[in-house]
Amino acid sequence: MHRDLQEILVSSEQLDAGIGKLAERISADYAGRCLTMVGVLKGSVFFLTDLARRVSTDVRLDFMMLSSYSGAHSTGVVRILLDLKESIEDSDVLIVEDIVDSGLTMDYMLQNLRTRKPRSLEICTLLDKPSRRKAQVPIKYSGFTIPDRFVVGYGLDYNGIYRNLPYIGVLKPEVIEGNRTCH
Ligand code: IMP
Ligand code: MG
Repeated sequence: MHRDLQEILVSSEQLDAGIGKLAERISADYAGRCLTMVGVLKGSVFFLTDLARRVSTDVRLDFMMLSSYSGAHSTGVVRILLDLKESIEDSDVLIVEDIVDSGLTMDYMLQNLRTRKPRSLEICTLLDKPSRRKAQVPIKYSGFTIPDRFVVGYGLDYNGIYRNLPYIGVLKPEVIEGNRTCH
């Protein structure tokens, strides 16, 4: 375990098994169709690539980057920093997200993507932190429900660090208080 962590919440083995189950459901639900997976940068990249490799239907990838977080606290304001490359009109679209916390990011994204007339639009999140929800968003696929802790690893960061950890862990409070950065 990384020295800055207090505990591991979801191990590599648990991630692997959970993502396998999601991939099975998605493969069955979209069988015979072409699925457009929209990854939310940067947090979803590890999840997206592992998930997409295990889905058996045809997959197209696109990305968006949104901002709502600075450090460990949400600003509540969502902005598009990078938009989709392709049209999603008449496409089956699955948003792939690392974690749904307040739900504000997903709420904004659903409203925004709906205006582009996809054939279907669903959310797949690796982690669901329901305790601090402010916007009720419909989550069709969820890997793990977690308590109200600030987690890092497997794509999730604190000040841009820890994304490459192969598991999900809880940071020690002194690391957050010390405001650790990496250049
Ligand atoms: P929401 O808009 O509050 O649902 O926040 C969603 C975004 O906040 C996620 O895509 C993450 O980037 C970030 N986030 C929320 N909780 C955590 C956490 O525990 N660790 C790291 N990032 C988080
Ligand atoms: Mg994110």
